[in-house]
Amino acid sequence: MSETSVLFVCLGNICRSPLAEGAFRAAAEEAGADIHASSAGTGSWHVGEPPDPRAIAVAKASGVDISTLRGRQVTADDFLRFSHVVALDRENLSHLEGLRPEGDAAAELSLLLDHVPGREGEPVADPYFGEEDGFAETWDDVVAGTRALLAELAP
Ligand code: 4NP
Repeated sequence: MSETSVLFVCLGNICRSPLAEGAFRAAAEEAGADIHASSAGTGSWHVGEPPDPRAIAVAKASGVDISTLRGRQVTADDFLRFSHVVALDRENLSHLEGLRPEGDAAAELSLLLDHVPGREGEPVADPYFGEEDGFAETWDDVVAGTRALLAELAP
């Protein structure tokens, strides 16, 4: 597709990628940039479920509502529906490299923190099995990554 659109992908699609979707949407709205954003997971455990309550809470604390999002699993077709597919960690990235169709038509694939100067190659750590305060760090990471990405897509 020619229009710019971004799909954020993590493992479960209930913590990191919905937070990235929410942070990107908020930043795009603030910047007046009309860029579609969505999210998905490489795994299927949480298809149809809302984000983790801890993720909903940390976004809400910054005025971003992600409570209406629902989990879905990424497909090869997503590479033709979106112009940019952005992985939250390196395992997600290698899974997506395997799923990406050959050819120029397929979305550009990258790691979120590769867009942040000085943080190239860093993952957004999986907060799911950790403590509540891990989600504040996740939020800070996705805000930094999505702001940097938006600056590239809508300079
Ligand atoms: P996410 O976190 O990839 O940031 O959504 C996870 C959520 C659920 C699971 C793993 C990671 N899980 O194994 O169910």
